Amino acid sequence: MRFTISFIFSIIFAVTLVAFGFAFYQSSTEKKQLNSELELRTRQVAKEIFHNDTLFFEKIDPNNINHLADSLNKQYNLLGFAIYYNYDSILSNSSVRDLINNSKVYIYQSITADTSLGNFFKAGGKKLYQHIRPTKRPYGSTKAVIFYSDAGYIDKLIDSIWFRNFIGWFVQALLVSLVTLILIRWGIFRQINKIVAWAKAVRTGNSGLIKPQPHLDFLDPLHKEIESIASAMNEAKASAEQEARLRTSAEAIWTPERLKVEMENLLHGKKMIVVSNREPYMHIHDGKDIRCIVPASGMITAMEPILKACSGLWIASGTGDADRETVNKHDKVEVPPEDPKYTLRRLWLTKQEENHFYYGFSNEGLWPLCHIAHTRPTFRNDDWLDYKKVNEDFARAVLEETKNEEQPFILIQDFHFALLPALIKKEKPKAKVAIFWHIPWPNPESFGICPWQREILDGMLGADLIGFHTQYHCNHFLETVNNALESMVLWENFSVKKGGRTTYVKPFPISIAFTLKDYDIGLPKIKPSQLLSEYGVHAHFLGIGVDRIDYTKGIVEKFLAIERFLEKNPSYIGKFTFVQVGAPSRTQLKSYSDTISSVENETNRINLRFKAKNWKAILLLKRHHSHKEIAPYYSSADFCMVTSLHDGMNLVAKEFVASRSQNDGSLILSRFAGASQELQGAIIVNPYDVEKTADAIKTALEMTKEEQNQRMMQMRLVIVRHNIYSWAATLLRTMATIN
Ligand code: F6P
Repeated sequence: MRFTISFIFSIIFAVTLVAFGFAFYQSSTEKKQLNSELELRTRQVAKEIFHNDTLFFEKIDPNNINHLADSLNKQYNLLGFAIYYNYDSILSNSSVRDLINNSKVYIYQSITADTSLGNFFKAGGKKLYQHIRPTKRPYGSTKAVIFYSDAGYIDKLIDSIWFRNFIGWFVQALLVSLVTLILIRWGIFRQINKIVAWAKAVRTGNSGLIKPQPHLDFLDPLHKEIESIASAMNEAKASAEQEARLRTSAEAIWTPERLKVEMENLLHGKKMIVVSNREPYMHIHDGKDIRCIVPASGMITAMEPILKACSGLWIASGTGDADRETVNKHDKVEVPPEDPKYTLRRLWLTKQEENHFYYGFSNEGLWPLCHIAHTRPTFRNDDWLDYKKVNEDFARAVLEETKNEEQPFILIQDFHFALLPALIKKEKPKAKVAIFWHIPWPNPESFGICPWQREILDGMLGADLIGFHTQYHCNHFLETVNNALESMVLWENFSVKKGGRTTYVKPFPISIAFTLKDYDIGLPKIKPSQLLSEYGVHAHFLGIGVDRIDYTKGIVEKFLAIERFLEKNPSYIGKFTFVQVGAPSRTQLKSYSDTISSVENETNRINLRFKAKNWKAILLLKRHHSHKEIAPYYSSADFCMVTSLHDGMNLVAKEFVASRSQNDGSLILSRFAGASQELQGAIIVNPYDVEKTADAIKTALEMTKEEQNQRMMQMRLVIVRHNIYSWAATLLRTMATIN
């Protein structure tokens, strides 16, 4: 308001000054012109009179002079005239007689110089003009004739011109200024006010609520500047907030060292044993050499850092063709080979056991039973018998390893060992036993088709603690128990009472080894074309998928979405490549070899459809890759895509997010993977919905850096706070507190 008032006053002042200046200029020009017109006219009158009759003034009768002046006045509009003979002899008509004294000096000058002179003067408050013309008299002496004109009309005229012009200019300038003021006020100020409101909203973190774009081109640069300042500010604010949050929660963030101390407190020197079917290190022949590999398994990714942090013993099936050659006489080997931290004990399964226990009951029975991926489970009695047998063998191994321990901590992994908890507890009731089910648990109706559901539930309920990734899976399990067994399900503390024993059923969302130390460390980004050069593929944009080739992973569905994306967005053809790292898995089973064929066929079909020189839509890398080999893809891809049709957690999603140290890139994540409950910064999709999954790819590729940052930071914070060390600590604390 104050600005507007002072603006208006300045305008009025400037307008007055301008109007005054212009009016002054015009009137003085006009005055000059009128003056010279009068001068000219008076001179011409004099000339004309003398031209018509040279002796006109010689013949004048002094008695008739007034009459003559009247006639000259009428004819030439002269006020009058005077004839100067000498200083004492001046003849004039009565109306100019009083003016003679004003003229004498000029008359003298004119006669002396022998030239006509003229000038304006004032007499009796009137403005007059006199023209003096010297003439030679016939007998030699000089006289002068003075002509007087009234010049008073000039001032009047000038006054009125001045006033008219001043008002005219004033009004014009005022109008122009007012229009300018209105334009500024409504056109520019409003837009600037909008930008100010937006900049303020950005500062206070509410920028999303206001549409910032002004509709004036000339404000665009300002808008762009503010936008980049705002985005830099937001980034700085977000990372400062994040840093502050991390700093305050640093105490709360679990590290291997902290877990080690915690475990020492919890175990009080007791042994910790992990049991799983899949071993964390597998020795295989490679020509004449023996190579050690880490199998593709989310379970291993999660458990390995715990064992590394706390030593202990890991019992698993030895499945590598060089495994026997690398163990000692107790079937044990220290791992990791390059820097041993804990002991691995291998158990040897016969071919028959492998077929029935592993391929048969575990992977053709329980796996499809628990994953709702529309592959029918197959239950065979022979498979079940070997499943029981292998569980008993492992129970024996555990008991053997803990024979001197009254209360060891035993952490059993996954669906291969549903019977193990009860088998151990039967022999060692004081042992603390937990089983963690890494895969989903279906609803009671689905699970109910298993002919041995009661035995499985009884076996599991031998544990003190049963862990799943989500509360949803816990609820399904408790409902299944409720339906199938004579027991008491206590929903208030999620436990089951059976035969005088209590088993707690709790969610423990598993995670990866990601601590503050790893937070800002990442591999440098490599350009897609450089990364893919060894495959002869040139691309600007890169998507990455890492899965075991399993029908539950939705790899074919993922490829259909990629195909649809390219169909809908042809501008990405030749520019976007999706790299699918696919580790062949359980290949002896038809359902798995069929899945591999479908994945290969779809890759070829889609690549053929969108054929382009030096480019592929999908690059299928069908072999086992180490973490080290996958890392550059994680850090360089524009997005990672996880499309599981059903998945307990999916640690690929977490590994990708953890690797993005610059908080960029996007994660497309199936809503049917347990990870979708925690990673809410992901673009969540239903992989069966090809259309929307295709659109998610576009969203991921075209997401602003700011949004990528926000989403990534949220997810990374979740993972660092809920890393595998915190998972282990929570699970072991829960185990320790159960009586
Ligand atoms: O993560 C679930 C799981 O079944 C693990 O138990 C297992 O190690 C992994 O998938 C891979 O399966 P497999 O050991 O049969 O290759």
